[in-house]
Formats: sequence, C-alpha cells, structure tokens
Amino acid sequence: MALPESWMNELMNRNDIVSVVSEYTRLKPKGGRMWGLCPFHPERDASFTVTPDKQLFHCFSCKAGGSVIQFIMQAENLPYMDAIRFLAQRANMDMPDEMDDARLREEKARRERLYNANRAAAKYYHSMLLSDAGLKARQYLIRRGIDGGTATRFGLGYAPNDWDALFKHLTELGFKREDLIDAGLCVRGRKDESKTYDFFHDRLMFPVIAANGTVVAFGGRILDGGDGAKYMNTGDTPIYNKKHNIYAINLMKGKKLGELIMVEGYMDVISLHQAGIENAVASLGTALTSQQARLLGRYAPRVCYAYDGDSAGQKAMLRGVDVLLESGVEPRVIIIPEGKDPDEFVKAYGAEAFLKLKDSSITAVQFKLESIASEFDLDDPDGREGYAKSACRLLAGLQPVERDRYIRLVSERSGMSIDTIKQQCGAVGNSTDPADAGGEPKWNNSPDYRNNNYKKRQTLSERAKAEHMLLACMMASRADAAQIVHLEGYDEKLFSLPGMADFARRLIAAYNNGANVEKVANIDKVDIRMMIASLEGEESEGPSAAVAQAEDIEKPIDSAADCIRFILKSEYDARIRELAELSATESDPNKRAELLKEQMSLVIKSRAIR
Ligand code: UTP
Ligand code: MN
Repeated sequence: MALPESWMNELMNRNDIVSVVSEYTRLKPKGGRMWGLCPFHPERDASFTVTPDKQLFHCFSCKAGGSVIQFIMQAENLPYMDAIRFLAQRANMDMPDEMDDARLREEKARRERLYNANRAAAKYYHSMLLSDAGLKARQYLIRRGIDGGTATRFGLGYAPNDWDALFKHLTELGFKREDLIDAGLCVRGRKDESKTYDFFHDRLMFPVIAANGTVVAFGGRILDGGDGAKYMNTGDTPIYNKKHNIYAINLMKGKKLGELIMVEGYMDVISLHQAGIENAVASLGTALTSQQARLLGRYAPRVCYAYDGDSAGQKAMLRGVDVLLESGVEPRVIIIPEGKDPDEFVKAYGAEAFLKLKDSSITAVQFKLESIASEFDLDDPDGREGYAKSACRLLAGLQPVERDRYIRLVSERSGMSIDTIKQQCGAVGNSTDPADAGGEPKWNNSPDYRNNNYKKRQTLSERAKAEHMLLACMMASRADAAQIVHLEGYDEKLFSLPGMADFARRLIAAYNNGANVEKVANIDKVDIRMMIASLEGEESEGPSAAVAQAEDIEKPIDSAADCIRFILKSEYDARIRELAELSATESDPNKRAELLKEQMSLVIKSRAIR
C-alpha cells in the first residue's frame, strides 16, 4: 500500500467504525460490542458484530469481516483504493499524494470507458439481431421458443459473421482500440499483432449485466451448423471477474424474494423467466464461489439448485451446497427427471410442473444421502452395508434433532433397523472408532455458539473455530506469539482457511520488526486494526473472524496448545478415514498392508493427542 502510515492512522481514527456502520444498519450494544442486522444479506436475527475497541466488524452468518475500509468496499461495492477515497471524503481529508490521486482518476476513467464500450457493444449486437444479417439468429430464437419480449428483456443480440464489424462500428463511435481489447470485445491478430478482430463471430449474444445495471461481459452461443465451442464467454477483464458475478442478478433488484433458483446456463434462466419463474439466475460456470454465494445471499435467504442431472452437474451441486451453507444461505436441491435441464423441462411440461418439482426440492443432507446411495448397489447386502456406513458418517456430524429426521430414511433404504442406524451414528459420533474425529477443542472463553442462531453458526466447522482461536492467541502479545510458534506441532500449515497462514506470518514479522507494534500496559501488541486495514481482498475475513470470536483470552499459550492439538488430531483423523476408504477398494494385498501400516501409525499419533 502506497499510503503513509500516519495518514492511514488518521483516516481510521476519523472514520470510527461504529459511526460508519451505523449509516447502514442499526447497532445496539451488548456484551462489550455492538450488534445489528448484517447489511450484506437479509436476516431476521442480528449476527453482525462490531468491536469498537478493535475497530473491526464480523458477520457470524455470512463471514464478511474486516476494518472500516473493507466494510465500505462491500457496502458501496468499491475497489480498495476507492473505498479509502470514499472514507477520506467522508472525513474531509485530502488524499495524501497527488500522483496517487491522478492514477486513481485515470483508473476510474478507464473503467468508465470499458463500461461504455460494453454498453455500446450490447446495443450494436441487439440492433444486429433485428437487422437482415440477424435473420438466422432470429430463426434460432424461434426454434428455441424465445419470444420477442424475452429477447428484449435480456438484451439478446447477434454478433455478425464478419472479421471486425464491431471493431469498425465502435471505433467510429470514438472508442479506442486498447480499451476494446481490454474489455474483451476485440483481440489482436495472432500473426500480425497490429490487426484487430472481433472476439465473437456469428453467435447469439447474451449480455452479462452486473447488479448495478452495467454491462460487464458477454456470452455467445453458436447457432445451428456453426463451428467452435458451444459457448464463448468474455474472460476476466478490469471490470469483470466471472467468480464474482451471477447471470440475471440485475433483474432481482428491488424484489422481495424468499428464494432464488440457481441454474447452469443462459438458456435455462431465460426459459424460466419467460415461463413466469422470474427468480432464476445462473452461476455461468460449474463451481460456485463464496463471493457468488454472498451475492446471492443479499437477495434471498434460500437458494434452490436446479442443475442438470448429469454427473458434472451433481458434483457441482454437492460442492455448491457447502459453499452456500458456509455463507449462511440455505441450500435446496431440485431433482429434474429424465436428464432434462430446466429449459427442456419447462418447455416440455410447463411452469406449473416446474414449480411442483421445486416444492418437492430436497435439503442439502437429503441430497448428500442420495448421492451416497448412488455410489452403492442397494440390491446387494454389501452395498447396503457400505451405504449405511457412509450415510451414518454424514449423519453423525449433524445435531441430534436434525439427525433424527434422516435416520428413518437411511434405515428404510439400507434395510437395517432404526436402532442399528442410531447405534452406528452414535459409534461414529462418540469416536469409539479410531477412524473418526472426536471431541471438541477445549479452550478458555470460547463463546457458546449453540444457544442462539445455531442453524447458521453450526456451519462454521470446529476446525475453523480452532484456526481462528489459534490466530487470536497469537495476536495477544509479542511474548505469547513467540512462545506459541515454538509449541510442539505448530506450523503455518495448520491454517487452512484463506489468508490465515499469510496473516500469521505477517503478524510474526510485525512483532519482529516493530512495525505497527505499540505498548499497551507494558505489553507489546500489534495494531491488528491497521494490519487488517491493509488487506485488499477476502483475506481480511479470517483474521476479523478470529478477533470477533476470541474476546479476551486469559491463557493464550494454553489455548493455543489446545487448538494445535485439535487441528492436528482432525488432520490425522481425516487421513485415517481416507486410508480406510482407500484400503476398502484396494485389491492388491501388499498395497493394502502398506495402507494399514500408515493407518495404524496415525491412529497411534491421533490417540496420543488428548
Ligand atoms: P449447457 O451445455 O448445459 O448449455 O451449459 P445450455 O445453457 O443448456 O445451453 P443450450 O440449452 O444448449 O443452448 C451450461 C452453461 O455452461 C456454460 C454456459 O454458461 C452455459 O449456459 N458453457 C457451456 C460454456 O461456457 N461453454 C460451453 O462450451 C458450454
Ligand atoms: Mn439447455
């Protein structure tokens, strides 16, 4: 970060996080901190917290967290430097360096030019769809059953079958070649770099529009008889990152939604909307990211997955439901029969039938149980036993009240008695079997997550809590951190959550070189607020969660040692489970013996940890 430390300090002091956040949500004091409804997603119970003395925020539900700067980045949807600028203006402070100011202005102007180029391109493609050249694209739309109203609503277009028609058109309008290339609309010639070609040729065009209404990218579908990939999409550009965007999210604005329907593709969204199901959106890729999950959570508390029934779609949903859970969004899964995608289904059977499917959508646990069942042959006794074991391992991780709902289901499908299933779940949960993780970390002052908001908070795994706690212990003081890194088993690799290992390393470095270190009651402490303020992305979330969870730690060294043991044990146990699975399918007796050997040595290690 190019800004002087003293200036940053003043910026932070003059933008007290409580007063800034209060402009977005009402905060009430409770237990030494402030609580309110998270401004980043709809919720009924307050899970958003601000610690005034540390000047940090953290949402226990969606996991957003950071300093006042990261708060503004998210609340105002600004990049890092613009958020700083925003806060400087709010506090009537000048930006420290004119150079930076000029660079910032230039960067902003460039983004503006790229937005404009995309908008102009969308207009051009749309006009082409209505032109003579667009006849075959219009015929294609008719064949796919998309009417004119829908095509207009989604701003559909046609990229003509020409080398550089868009390039010529936009240059005439005054757009610069470099900007068109940066926006992903045009490309340099492969042989001759001075030549310029359009990126899309002879395709049906779908503009991708961000939540704020700006056109940020395009998808282009091949028409009947065309060649190349079925879809081409704009790659990442200075104004577009596909990991952060959701197709059709712009149409959700201002709606009060109980849920969103998440489909795979452009055509699925469009067909559902045309059929009157106007809460459908698409991720435009298979793996849902946490940023996308959070974006979805801002519009609705629940997301119904309706992906294709093929194995790629199933896998994507299995990962996706966990990503949603981690972001505090309730996942559901719609199973579409006959291997159809939502577009095909709604075309064949109508909206009513689709809504019926949606009404019988299943929970994340049911979906996982289905997926486990599909791995086994349930007509075979061994298959049923395998299914029961796997299913019970899943159920053992649930809260008892939730588990109870599924025990009957597993019992019916496996043909085993309810008692047997209960026992099996218990055996797994109570860790009498060395192959299963056991116990919870014992640490001082661990806040009780069970009392309220349990449904949301349970999604933070015990492992994640241990990592947060460990980092919080290291934040306690220079002397504590110095001892913790020498504890048996300590390793940066214990931190698996994004940004945590990095933060731990920077924390140690700060203690060592004195940057951001201050004496509080004669103890050397790092100014965590300033360290977190300097992070430009999601990396602020882990450390902020650590601060929010930890409160005052009485015995940082003892707590840290507990956390280290817990993390190691859960790693050993995960590997032991993995080895058990590997050896179950290994037919070579020598390899099996090898696996068994590793497993036994890990069981000994794991048992040595209490
Ligand atoms: P599908 O192959 O399921 O396409 O890919 P679709 O949406 O059903 O399209 P139609 O009905 O055949 O016209 C789902 C999504 O995956 C992405 C696109 O976003 C597509 O909508 N995709 C697919 C690509 O990006 N490239 C491809 O080549 C294929
Ligand atoms: Mn399709």
